[in-house]
Amino acid sequence: MPGTVIVGAQWGDEGKGKIVDLLAQNSDVVCRYQGGPNAGHTIVVGEETYKIRALPSGIVRGKPCVIGNGCVVDPEVLIDELDRFPDAEVYLSGNAHLIMPWHLAIDQASERRLGKLAIGTTKRGIGPCYADKAMRLGIRVQDILEPKILRQKIEVALAEKNLWLERVYESEPFDLETVAARYEGYAQRLRPYVADTSLYVETALRDGKDVLFEGAQATLLDLDHGTYPFVTSSNPVAAQAAIGLGIGPQRIDRVLGVAKAYLTRVGEGPFPSEIGGDEQARMRELGGEYGTVTGRERRCGWLDLVALRYAVRVNGIDKLALTKLDVLSHFGELPVCVRYQTPDGSETADFPAHQSDFHSAAPVYEVLQGWGEPLDSCSSVDDLPGAARDYVDFVERELGVEVTLVGTGAERTSVLSRT
Ligand code: IMP
Repeated sequence: MPGTVIVGAQWGDEGKGKIVDLLAQNSDVVCRYQGGPNAGHTIVVGEETYKIRALPSGIVRGKPCVIGNGCVVDPEVLIDELDRFPDAEVYLSGNAHLIMPWHLAIDQASERRLGKLAIGTTKRGIGPCYADKAMRLGIRVQDILEPKILRQKIEVALAEKNLWLERVYESEPFDLETVAARYEGYAQRLRPYVADTSLYVETALRDGKDVLFEGAQATLLDLDHGTYPFVTSSNPVAAQAAIGLGIGPQRIDRVLGVAKAYLTRVGEGPFPSEIGGDEQARMRELGGEYGTVTGRERRCGWLDLVALRYAVRVNGIDKLALTKLDVLSHFGELPVCVRYQTPDGSETADFPAHQSDFHSAAPVYEVLQGWGEPLDSCSSVDDLPGAARDYVDFVERELGVEVTLVGTGAERTSVLSRT
């Protein structure tokens, strides 16, 4: 089973970094296939906490890492991470797009302009960069290989972007010489990493190596399958691993979904199982639910199996990792959303296909018993309190998918295997 996708099954922040870190131990290569520095993967190793945004999480295990063509790259962020891992073996796709300073400026200005209708982006220039890619106006990593071409492309892009910035967003324009000099500096540092990543990954797979495809963001933030427009601008779903790396879909052998034992969301948009008032604040504190990239408070809610069932479908998830079960130790009763009620009073177990139906969906809960004791001393699933095992079994039964990993704490070692 050499090609495994690890995909977020909710609204992100499920703890994918930690699961990738665990599986990377026995893998040969770890690849990112979409997204950019809007991701923030946290890995705790003893006293050290790694927060990684651009590189695949496998970097912490010293594995060869690939940044695929489906990613967008902020050179400043990537160089900062490469400085932190000087021995890293990194392969950077020449077809990945570069985040330019105007992408950050437009992301910020556009959110400001939308006011109450803002998406709540991470303001890292992700949307504008992918928009330029689709408009065929983007600057790609391979453009850094030739200084003359890089400068020309910056000049062409700036001629249009400065007009937008000044006239539409009433923001400051960018100076060509300053941007060109800054990016030439980045180019010198990044050139050695540029590679034919499609060939590299395909060769690794053909040689029988174990390759992890690490998703960033998550299913409900997917541009096509998420809760549009409150989504990111790429496709985190599992099938994108093939497109975002330049390999065939049959190279994906296994899809491991990662879901928190409860649910969080950053940014705007409907959230049927969101918890009200003080209870939400309590869960946020207990789970440390603050954005890795932005530091923003994450909205917190109960586990939503309607949404998770949908994630199983659109990704083809065949195994699930359920993380942060320990956070639920502090709650006496555990409501789990099993269906949605629609305004006409009927109930459905299927995720609504249309936005307005999702906006008006009300959660129908089944209340499970809490276990009320910490899980830190559990070294195998057999050590889990009965009610915690029942919780995991319930999820498994409702979804028809095996839960193979259970997260019980922040530490690297706090993941119990159920196989
Ligand atoms: P963008 O990706 O910065 O354009 O933000 C679009 C939406 O995706 C916003 O709601 C963000 O909060 C959300 N988002 C982007 N990256 C992450 C992530 O890594 N975790 C959780 N939410 C994210």
